[in-house]
Amino acid sequence: MSGQIYQQLYRESLEQPEAFWGKVAATLDWSKPYDTLVGKGDGPIPRWFIGGELNACHNCVDRHVDAGFGDDAALLYESPVTGTSRTVTFAQLQDLAARCGGAMRALGVGKGDRVLIYMPNSVEAVVAMLACARIGAIHSVVFGGFAPKELAARIDDAQPSLVIAASCGIEGKKVLPYQPMLDEAFALSLSDGVPTIYWQRAHSHADLDDGDAHDWEAVLAAATPAPCEPMAATDPLYILYTSGTTGAPKGIVRDTAGYLAALAWSIKGIYNCEPGDAYWAASDVGWVVGHSYICYAPLLNRNASVIFEGKPVGTPDAGIFWKLIAKHKVKSFFTAPTAIRAIKQVDPQGELAAGHDLSNLQAIYLAGERTDPDTLHWLEDLHGKPVIDHWWQTETGWAICASPAGIEKLTIKPGSTSVAMPGWDMECLGDNGQPVAAGEQGAIVARLPLPPGAAPTLWNADDRYRASYLSAFDGYYLSGDAGYIDEDGHVFVMGRTDDVINVAGHRLSSAAMEEVLAAHAAVAECAVIGAADQLKGQIPVGFVVTKAGADISQEQLADELIANVRRDIGPVAALKNIHVMEKLPKTRSGKILRKTIRQIADGEEPQAPATIEDPSVLAPYIALYTPL
Ligand code: COA
Ligand code: AMP
Repeated sequence: MSGQIYQQLYRESLEQPEAFWGKVAATLDWSKPYDTLVGKGDGPIPRWFIGGELNACHNCVDRHVDAGFGDDAALLYESPVTGTSRTVTFAQLQDLAARCGGAMRALGVGKGDRVLIYMPNSVEAVVAMLACARIGAIHSVVFGGFAPKELAARIDDAQPSLVIAASCGIEGKKVLPYQPMLDEAFALSLSDGVPTIYWQRAHSHADLDDGDAHDWEAVLAAATPAPCEPMAATDPLYILYTSGTTGAPKGIVRDTAGYLAALAWSIKGIYNCEPGDAYWAASDVGWVVGHSYICYAPLLNRNASVIFEGKPVGTPDAGIFWKLIAKHKVKSFFTAPTAIRAIKQVDPQGELAAGHDLSNLQAIYLAGERTDPDTLHWLEDLHGKPVIDHWWQTETGWAICASPAGIEKLTIKPGSTSVAMPGWDMECLGDNGQPVAAGEQGAIVARLPLPPGAAPTLWNADDRYRASYLSAFDGYYLSGDAGYIDEDGHVFVMGRTDDVINVAGHRLSSAAMEEVLAAHAAVAECAVIGAADQLKGQIPVGFVVTKAGADISQEQLADELIANVRRDIGPVAALKNIHVMEKLPKTRSGKILRKTIRQIADGEEPQAPATIEDPSVLAPYIALYTPL
């Protein structure tokens, strides 16, 4: 409980990074050792393991087969939406990844080429990712809940030379064919279209006579298995797009060796897993958690990784998580607080947890949004297991702050994301760039260099990286989150300082939604805020002012705007509330007071700045949120 072991290890990571990360790197297989642990390389921030060469797929799969663990389970696929359970061993995974890599090569994909993966949680999605890593192609997985226009933006930025897709996704009872979405995305993009490999699912088939479309089963069967290509430590493993403060998504670049080192440390240090344990991250391969902890980290550590295609509730019921944890003797389980709130809403007494043997489960990890203490306590009481809230971002690739259960059991402070992980030198700064006192709120930043695993740049956008993360405070990475650090070094993350909102654990840009609303012919101006929501943490709410003479009813306008956001961003945006207002509150210089609107929506006392143009504009907003 004292934290001494953690403190010693943490200090070593900052004061002697060579020793700390050198030990971690020694657990990986290298085809060429690195010559510089951390130093100046290409791009905006220092790079790790310069000069080294290795392959991510080899480290996640082949070396375990070579060591005699080929028959051990690598993937445990559970798909209640299709009634399928499937176990894939490391030897089978090696064969699949090698064949998929061979099929990609036969279609002309080489080192450094981008491959867009548009697939739901599935064995095939993980195989496609590993196959890219195997041949040195850079994958970019796109979450299924995004609309064709968002897909098109990613296609234009990444310029993939191949797409690997499922014929459909399955959302609860809905079957969502992917081919029409891809076709529309390519029609909207500047690209002429590229070959596509479709994994055909029984629920809906893609039309393979249509253009350059290929059948997954057929191309894998015919493929010459591809070997693992040695890759430079600093070569990109993947690009993952995430929401920024404008409508244009940010292409987060992940390097190879730094990422593997960070994952190798964290799967033991944070998640306390030993090789052979079963591990489950109930996320989606389209999010960073899915990349790090469904695919790469557990496989790297020779854990069996559960892949779940379903929802926490309704597929078939709110007991599915507990049932599968018991079935696979899962040791560490990771999900989003919103999923736990969804379960709690349906099964408040936890009756569906009864009868499942969770004796193997050591801890439950939550991330993606702030964990409210009520949810934390409910979950702790339900299972009597530690519940660890940990904080991270697509940019960081792994947790910035957590309680390192594999190192030392620290006291959990509800509402806090615990302490900084190795290499993360955290500070809380005031507007003047000076550290604030313990317990005082400020911008949470990390001193450079960032530890291994953190994104070295944005795809083709070094300057955007510098502007987004490095320009606010000299020598620091700006996380975009505000909060405070207490006298024991526990970090409390309270919310974003920018236009990013977090809906049901999904990161979205309110600015992107505003762009869609503003494009409507009847809208003069608008604001989108993330209002507190009991289930989803936040939900987007739009406020619009119509143009003079706009001939449309408020209901009609709201319906059209909601439909437009769904069409242009996707169902995942979940914008369901639009309010038509006379005016938006603004400062005298014309800045829309979104924070003030959010405070009103959340039932807080609005803190409008002294520069507000006309305080009376707030009255209808307050009335809107005042119970009758
Ligand atoms: N493909 C297509 N559509 C998708 C999708 C996907 N992969 N994921 C979500 N959607 C759709 C949903 O079907 C829904 O559509 P609808 O408006 O037609 O009903 C819409 O996007 C909103 O989805 P969501 O916000 O997820 O709401 P929900 O009611 O379907 O589910 C939860 C609510 C809480 C159960 C669910 O959001 C959840 O499990 N969240 C956890 C997320 C998570 O694990 N994040 C990773 C961080 S670690
Ligand atoms: P994403 O990039 O999708 O992982 O979202 C990252 C953002 O989610 C962070 O910048 C935070 O705003 C929020 N977030 C993630 N984990 C936590 C957490 N444990 N507590 C509070 N906010 C979190």
